[in-house]
Amino acid sequence: MNVWAVYFSATGTTKRIVTAIAQTLCRRAGVPCREFDFTLPAARNGWPEFAPGDLVVFGVPVYAGRVPNVLLKYLGTAMGNGAFAVPVVLYGNRNFDDALIELRDILADHGFLPFAAAAFVGEHAFSYELAKGRPDERDLRRAEEFAERIFKSRTGKCATVDVPGTPRPYRGYYMPHDGAGNPIDIRKIKPLTSERCDACGECVGVCPVGGISRENVRECTGICIKCGACVKGCHRHAKYFEDEGYLCHLRQLEREFGERREPELFL
Ligand SMILES: Cc1cc2nc3c(=O)[nH]c(=O)nc-3n(C[C@H](O)[C@H](O)[C@H](O)COP(=O)(O)O)c2cc1C
Repeated sequence: MNVWAVYFSATGTTKRIVTAIAQTLCRRAGVPCREFDFTLPAARNGWPEFAPGDLVVFGVPVYAGRVPNVLLKYLGTAMGNGAFAVPVVLYGNRNFDDALIELRDILADHGFLPFAAAAFVGEHAFSYELAKGRPDERDLRRAEEFAERIFKSRTGKCATVDVPGTPRPYRGYYMPHDGAGNPIDIRKIKPLTSERCDACGECVGVCPVGGISRENVRECTGICIKCGACVKGCHRHAKYFEDEGYLCHLRQLEREFGERREPELFL
């Protein structure tokens, strides 16, 4: 049996949970952990060859209550070849809405057998306060316990796992609203760069959509998915958003969703 940790993870929280689950499974099965990180555009040219009997822990973050739509085309080219899968979503303590059911369906539609699933919480990409420091020790222990349960089930239950969410058609992408009830649309905003920037190019290397110019790191020439990779990845804290709608949404999230949510496991 090959055990895979497969993930997209712009700020690293999905990666931590997916690898914790996969590594525990590997320890129990006595096999090495195979890893496939498709965060960067260069990785999204193909897929590893999965085989029947493989066990693939497959994680993405929740964006607007769904699987990040920037990934849908690529995910549509995946081929499970009958491998067992554990869809995992990471969300920033608001809600995972229809993201888990969507990821489960994508995997099932592409030849995987999703027999277990989970939603974990990670520090919100927009914030340093919301779900601060998560996944933490408690989350990682839950991830290991989940892996133990998966291992004990020995993938014997082949039925597609039941998860919460609206079956197709899914709900629309979550849209925040301001105090007056007007929708806040942050799709077009881009990060700004402060005078702290020393043009080291770190941000260029971590952008999952290759959106930052190598020649001028202050310039965002491509799309921006607001994933937080450049903001949280910059060692000089030089990247930031100052759009009023974005900041309003951020304040709202921190105000309304501060109460700790726990991982939800489905098996
Ligand atoms: C564009 C965008 C939309 C998001 N939407 C949601 C959401 O609907 N619900 C939620 O709880 N968290 C949301 N988050 C927070 C992420 O799910 C969370 O930060 C996740 O841990 C990021 O995973 P990563 O560290 O692997 O990149 C959103 C983050 C981004 C960047």
